[in-house]
Amino acid sequence: MTTINDVTELEIDGDVAVITIDSPPVNALSHNVRDGLWDGFTAAFATEATSIVLICAGRTFIAGADISEFGGAPKGKGLGEVQALMESSSVPVIAAIHGTALGGGLEVALCAHYRIAVPSAKCGLPEVHLGLLPGAGGTQRLPRIVGAQKAMEFMTSGVHVPASDCLDMGLVDELAVEGNLLDDAKTMARRLVAEGKPLKKISDSDDKVAPARNTPEIFDEFRSSKAARKFRGFKAPESIIKCVEAAVNLPFEEGIARERELFTELVTSPESAAQRYVFFAERQVWKLPDVSRDTPELPVETVGIIGAGTMGGGIAMNFVNVGIPVTIVETNQDALDRGLAVVRGNYERSSRNGRFSMDEVERRMGMISTSLDMADFADVDMVIEAVFENMDVKKEIFGKLDEICKPGAVLASNTSALNIDEIASATTRPESVIGMHFFSPANVMKCLEVVRADHTSLEVINTAMKTGKKIGKIGALVGVCPGFVGNRMLFARRVEAMALLDEGAMPWDVDKALYDFGFAMGPFQMSDLAGLDIGWSKETSTGATIRERLCELDRRGQKNGAGYYDYDENRVGSPSPITEELVKEFAEKAGKPARTFTADEIVERLVLPMINEGAKILEERKAIRASDIDMIWINGYNWPVYRGGPMFHADQMGLDTVLARLKELQAEFGDKWKPAALLEQLVAEGKTFADVEAKPIKVPSGS
Ligand code: 3HC
Repeated sequence: MTTINDVTELEIDGDVAVITIDSPPVNALSHNVRDGLWDGFTAAFATEATSIVLICAGRTFIAGADISEFGGAPKGKGLGEVQALMESSSVPVIAAIHGTALGGGLEVALCAHYRIAVPSAKCGLPEVHLGLLPGAGGTQRLPRIVGAQKAMEFMTSGVHVPASDCLDMGLVDELAVEGNLLDDAKTMARRLVAEGKPLKKISDSDDKVAPARNTPEIFDEFRSSKAARKFRGFKAPESIIKCVEAAVNLPFEEGIARERELFTELVTSPESAAQRYVFFAERQVWKLPDVSRDTPELPVETVGIIGAGTMGGGIAMNFVNVGIPVTIVETNQDALDRGLAVVRGNYERSSRNGRFSMDEVERRMGMISTSLDMADFADVDMVIEAVFENMDVKKEIFGKLDEICKPGAVLASNTSALNIDEIASATTRPESVIGMHFFSPANVMKCLEVVRADHTSLEVINTAMKTGKKIGKIGALVGVCPGFVGNRMLFARRVEAMALLDEGAMPWDVDKALYDFGFAMGPFQMSDLAGLDIGWSKETSTGATIRERLCELDRRGQKNGAGYYDYDENRVGSPSPITEELVKEFAEKAGKPARTFTADEIVERLVLPMINEGAKILEERKAIRASDIDMIWINGYNWPVYRGGPMFHADQMGLDTVLARLKELQAEFGDKWKPAALLEQLVAEGKTFADVEAKPIKVPSGS
């Protein structure tokens, strides 16, 4: 065994040279790994070996370029040089894949002459999720293996494809026996040599791309396909399509040059910077400064859910989907039956869409038991209360849970805004009480706000976070305050959205500005969807706001065909003349002259209050770090990923710009625009939100 560098070894086993990369955690292509590959292959070429196997130690094959190196000064050997060296080998090179061969990792493997993978391995070119395209020849080599259409689907979706499918697609040549990869790779290498197999260079082949040369319309069809709707606002998918066009129409080297040009554009784009930030933020969010590896995690093998409504049913599905049985309790059988029917409907729809069989639907439904008696929670490990937002009701429920549940059971509330400390006060074990705020629809939305109350124990926090991860959520630990993090910032935005209307802006102009910014919908479309009459009653209505006036006119939103918008029978909204008149009336009453509002002005008026509120949240230590706030907004409210979240967006704008605009708005509209102290401080220190050190959620009883 020869040590090539600190991450690379070369072993000569008779006629086979084995290069092993060992660079934890995921063997990313850092400059060390690239240098190791270069020196490793160079050294292997100098031996008598008649074939070379490239394999990785640890949990995975190379999982891609080292994302943390993007934007830094170039160091060490370039990936292109390493790939060219591999392809130039005069003896067969075999890439032996386990774990995941992703991005640059797969692109390295595609420069081997042959590939072997264990059945559990997966391959993918997920660069699109980082706002990038596969920039190490992937866009040119993949179409030459799978054809243009499949290559576009593969690269614009970034899917991780199982080894057996890779075999069918020709992406790998053989499957190894699980656990026997190295030996099987050596056997394959010796066989290839014995049979005199050619040194297959993907770059030389043309047969898979030639058909698309005669059907150029497949590119435009792909651009307008259903799958392409997800591309709105993202830059990378279009660049990927252009690269595949190049792969089809240009010689390999020219295609590579086109790929490089488009990659450079993307890697320096704000969209990719945001998406790379999100990649790391999604991993940071699980790291809790005061929870260590030694903090115990309580077992969660059974879960009780109170409430079979939309939230309760959706929450139940999350657990069932990962094999954790649930018991749902309701106050009457009808509510249980209705709730279960909705869950069944969701599962059956998934089955019709080909996600799983009808047997699987039955298996999952079989994991849900129902009851009208909370006494059935005596043995469950975790209870999640998901009833309507009423403090008295919640306190009564938690008082009962305190009597019923076994010691150590986690008692969670799904409240979206109520004070968890007060809920916990109804029990004799506030250390077991925590908030687990799911977002609607709970079986779909990835966001989970885990709310730490004053007395919640670290092991309960740890358990709630780990449970969130297990059920596929992005969990962010937050502190108790009205609306927690997400809704608190949403309220700040809503206040300003209403203020805009009062000044004469039309709801559809406000919504369109936010849609064009990248949100799925604007605040008034959201309001119409949720129902304008939430929290409104005829008896107490004063007609003082536009919303109240709309409710008084029985315009309650999509559900009755009229809200801010008018709706047709397919629930498609159009601007309503009634709303328009109301808006004009209110603006006139307030003495606001009729004028047009630009999209930039609207976005600024709606996003700045969110940023300011986010700064206050951080200052009060109701969030651990700025990027956690961004995770909540991306995963809970569909903030556009390519804008990185409100706090990242503020850093991109420049906090001095943000502060200056807040001060101008404060001078114009009053102290609701007063900048957060933290913002003033960061600007004074020349720092960003990203510079704010992660700190534990502040609880009154702690430090
Ligand atoms: N670069 C730098 N760090 C990386 C990395 C990468 N490509 N991939 C993972 N990491 C880091 C993570 O940040 C994390 O660090 P932490 O422990 O300090 O938080 C650690 O490795 C482990 O990662 P995960 O927690 O994600 O581990 P999992 O086992 O859950 O997942 C994985 C492993 C499937 C490999 C997942 O990490 C992943 O999807 N990685 C990114 C893959 C990717 O996007 N590759 C393409 C990169 S861009 C590229 O290759 C451009 C090329 O075309 C030129």
